[in-house]
Amino acid sequence: MTHPGLDSGAPRPDAATKAMGRARYCADVQLTGMLHGVIVASPVASGILSGLDVSAAEAAPGVVAVLTAANLPGNNRVGLIFDDQPLLVTDRVRMAGDRLALIAATTLEAAQRAARLVKFTIDPLPGVHDVRRALEPGAPLVQEQGNLLKEFFVKRGAPQTCRDADLVLEDEFVIGGQEHAYLETQGTVAEPQPDGSWLLHSTTQCPFYIRGRVARFLGLPISRVRVRQTVTGGGFGGKEDYPDEPAMCAAALAKATGRPVSLILPRDQDMQMSTKRHAMVVRHKLYASLSGRIRGVEVQVLVDAGAYAGLSTVVAERANISSVGPYDIEHVSVLTQVIYTNNLFGGPYRGFGAPQVAAAHEAQMDRLARAVGQDPFEIRRINGVSAKNPEFTSGEALPQAHLYGKLLDELEEKSGWKREKAAIAAAREADPGACEGIGLATIIYGVNLHWGGQRLDRGGAYVLIQADGTVNAAVGITEMGQGALAAMRTICAAGLGIDETRVQITEVDTALVPDSGPTVASRATVSGGNAVLDAVRQLNERLLPLAAGKLGLSGPEGVVCRDGVYSHPSTTVTTTFNEVVALLYGRRQNPGALGWFMSPEREYDPATGQGRAYAFYTFGGHVVRVRVDRATGLVTVREVTAAHDVGKIIHGLSAEGQVQGGVVQGLGWALSEELKLDAGRLKNPGFTDYLIPSSMDIPERINIVFLEEPEDQGPFGAKGLGEPSFISVGAATLNAVSHALGRDVSVLPLTPERVVGLARPDAEGTP
Ligand code: MTE
Repeated sequence: MTHPGLDSGAPRPDAATKAMGRARYCADVQLTGMLHGVIVASPVASGILSGLDVSAAEAAPGVVAVLTAANLPGNNRVGLIFDDQPLLVTDRVRMAGDRLALIAATTLEAAQRAARLVKFTIDPLPGVHDVRRALEPGAPLVQEQGNLLKEFFVKRGAPQTCRDADLVLEDEFVIGGQEHAYLETQGTVAEPQPDGSWLLHSTTQCPFYIRGRVARFLGLPISRVRVRQTVTGGGFGGKEDYPDEPAMCAAALAKATGRPVSLILPRDQDMQMSTKRHAMVVRHKLYASLSGRIRGVEVQVLVDAGAYAGLSTVVAERANISSVGPYDIEHVSVLTQVIYTNNLFGGPYRGFGAPQVAAAHEAQMDRLARAVGQDPFEIRRINGVSAKNPEFTSGEALPQAHLYGKLLDELEEKSGWKREKAAIAAAREADPGACEGIGLATIIYGVNLHWGGQRLDRGGAYVLIQADGTVNAAVGITEMGQGALAAMRTICAAGLGIDETRVQITEVDTALVPDSGPTVASRATVSGGNAVLDAVRQLNERLLPLAAGKLGLSGPEGVVCRDGVYSHPSTTVTTTFNEVVALLYGRRQNPGALGWFMSPEREYDPATGQGRAYAFYTFGGHVVRVRVDRATGLVTVREVTAAHDVGKIIHGLSAEGQVQGGVVQGLGWALSEELKLDAGRLKNPGFTDYLIPSSMDIPERINIVFLEEPEDQGPFGAKGLGEPSFISVGAATLNAVSHALGRDVSVLPLTPERVVGLARPDAEGTP
């Protein structure tokens, strides 16, 4: 089934090249004289680098340069928000994957051979690997200033007054991290230019971050560094900040050698070194009355940041505000702590901390439903935000709060909830060993940047009409598979009133478009789309008066362009887009326009978590139907229903693809993807042992519901969908397995080993 959007149904602009294998990814960039770079990394997570001998590597055939902290041609302090990270280790090793040396050689094989010749000694130090232990007195320190990096809060009402509630439900949820598993690993080709400036070809979702950090690393003005995004084979948040690191490594080697350097991470290094979805521990306490109404919640979220801050505080800021869910609750206390450990490097990942906390708040909603004898849908209706009770955790009244109830209705109907639940109950009656379950989870998500990052919530686009009536558009937001280019093309074409195949959109080049902030937070459609529309508005101000003249009218009011033809209700005379463009060119008027978008300024108090955390929100929800094999622990997902409040669908097929992809990625996180660590070292750094879903694991049916009620701030009323399509999948799966097993579940992922443990009649607690 395809959901119609504003688009005409023409294939996505990036579809054919990707499907035919013609797209040029970062590793396809070949330049004259190009060298190949590799990284020598620490295999241990905590220690002191007491010896490093690169002489044999330097002497190896084909090697052009070997860099260590001692001869790095750039600033070795590379932390993004906090100054806590070196590019190359000077003495202290804090994570497995810390870089010790960089090598450039004439071939990749020569560089890899030389890497094996680097000798190093690391004297091990005790590490901290359990986020729950990291703040205890005497815990090994990951960073000198202590293991607590930052705290975030929500303080609303007085939760302590709820302690006499009829019901108190309390649990600790242990939620695992996740590898992004983009098919294209991280990499950059750094190309020094003859005039001393730099061109970098990078696989990234945030080219402007790379530009800024490489410029700082090399000590250059921003204008001397240019980043071209290469076709990007998936990002999922993993290519927000992390790509800056291989980019700085490639730039360092290129600076040292004066030659272009291609540095592409092999899969095992990529999995060990690059950022991951944060593992979190969520302690959730809920106070409710017997009617099912929640009086208050107290939440503590422990975020395992790994050894460096990266963007963990930004992720935690979102987890903090998301940790209560789409509910109107009078008394709320949330404490989110970002904690250093010697585990994997935590970072952005589709949903930015919301999926982990959703697993906890949605499990609690189901437990409350069971405790008071209500249906899971009903308990969410009782407590959910609504037109009558529109206040969310941050205290702000949501203008579209009524959509939450509508979403519940649609999700219940489309998933056949009542019918399926009755069928499961009947099957259990007939055979008490039958192990089927159904689970629901819902979320609210700000599909733009949090107040803390609102200075970056902006976007630029340059739209240029060519003399033949075709259009080039350069946007500052990136395509990483989600369909952003298709959406931008559709918005541009719809704004001008022409067929979208006339519009050519290009991947980001930082020299051509203004810094549009990061392509994260599902903000591309709104920030990029509004920027495109602003450019189109300026162009229409020039085109419409010309069209009016051609139609014999005195002014442009009421003139419209549809399918490339201008018309007005008062006349049968028409003129084409091409004719009007010819006139524009004939008069030597400017055929281009730079469009700009910025989200409205907001007030928010980080000390209490009260105010306008996000510019606007979306609701989403999933129902997951599972069968559990008690003997093997295998969970088979039979059907998933997804419902999303999307404002307006721009590109139908891309929207549908996002929902399907989000569901499959969410099921992988919930059921099979486990980052197995041995003292901070990843034991399964490859897709043989780290199990992402294959086509065999995809449910028989994924039903999709889109609620289309326009969002005032979105282009044509649209809002983002990229992350919400993922966020509640894990939580709904947890609830479905819990329903199937007839017991509380407080852990993700639910791998077969864990489920076997939970299915044992004598099982207790978290396995
Ligand atoms: N879909 C694909 N195919 N590839 C990706 O890398 N990234 C996700 C999501 N969907 C991603 C994806 C993430 S992390 C985000 S923030 C959004 O897409 C970004 O896109 P949007 O702003 O266009 O929704």
